[in-house]
Amino acid sequence: MLYDAHELGRTFLRGQVPVRALDRVSLRIDEGEFVAVTGPSGCGKTTLLNILGLLDPDHEGRLEMRGRSVSGLAPRETARLRLAAIGLVFQDFHLVPALDALDNVAMPHWRLHGSRARARKRAAELLGSLGLGDRLRADTQRLSGGEMQRVAVARSLVNDPAVVLADEPTANLDAEATSRLLDLLDGVHRDGRAVVIVSHNPTVVARAGRAIRLEYGRMAAEG
Ligand SMILES: Nc1ncnc2c1ncn2[C@@H]1O[C@H](COP(=O)(O)OP(=O)(O)OP(=O)(O)O)[C@@H](O)[C@H]1O
Ligand SMILES: [Mg+2]
Repeated sequence: MLYDAHELGRTFLRGQVPVRALDRVSLRIDEGEFVAVTGPSGCGKTTLLNILGLLDPDHEGRLEMRGRSVSGLAPRETARLRLAAIGLVFQDFHLVPALDALDNVAMPHWRLHGSRARARKRAAELLGSLGLGDRLRADTQRLSGGEMQRVAVARSLVNDPAVVLADEPTANLDAEATSRLLDLLDGVHRDGRAVVIVSHNPTVVARAGRAIRLEYGRMAAEG
């Protein structure tokens, strides 16, 4: 099993007011599963994805990844595990503005394996497969929303992660680009990797093997 999550919870403070963003959500995700996460704005989807992405050490509950508790790991270990095993596509991309498209994608590979030349070769292949072969050296800040999204997806795949966690990755894409991205994620899935994708797009949800619906921070439905 890839993830075993028991009663995940998270409360944020908005000023003095506590906001219960996630409330006792338990779920299991197998290796290689394709899971969609849906639910209205503010229901806790990004909060859940951040916890699964080991980005939120302050969550409640217990999270195991591949049989190992990851809730209490030291920051360095967490960072290493994330780099090697988890690909993240953020809702607002989080690309590094000082780096061009190629180096945004190459960076995690370079950090994990240590060779910039190999990292760039791998990054160029991935960007090419996403139709960005002619944008490799583009200034990240000049890319369109859809192009940024594809750079973010390429970056998430560069270290061949066990799981890709993607937050609304098709939000800025037209139908054709959405279909290409989904084909790519299908390929990721067929390679045996898990994909967890937050989306409202019925086409995306239909491709997933399972859909989880959150409402008010709670698991509303699973099927
Ligand atoms: N850092 C934070 N500080 C305060 N409140 C937060 C923080 N992050 C999230 N929240 C609140 O927690 C709740 C869940 O937020 P979250 O971003 O997980 O929702 P979401 O389902 O991803 O929404 P959307 O579909 O709009 O992206 C919301 O009420 C949000 O305002
Ligand atoms: Mg969100």
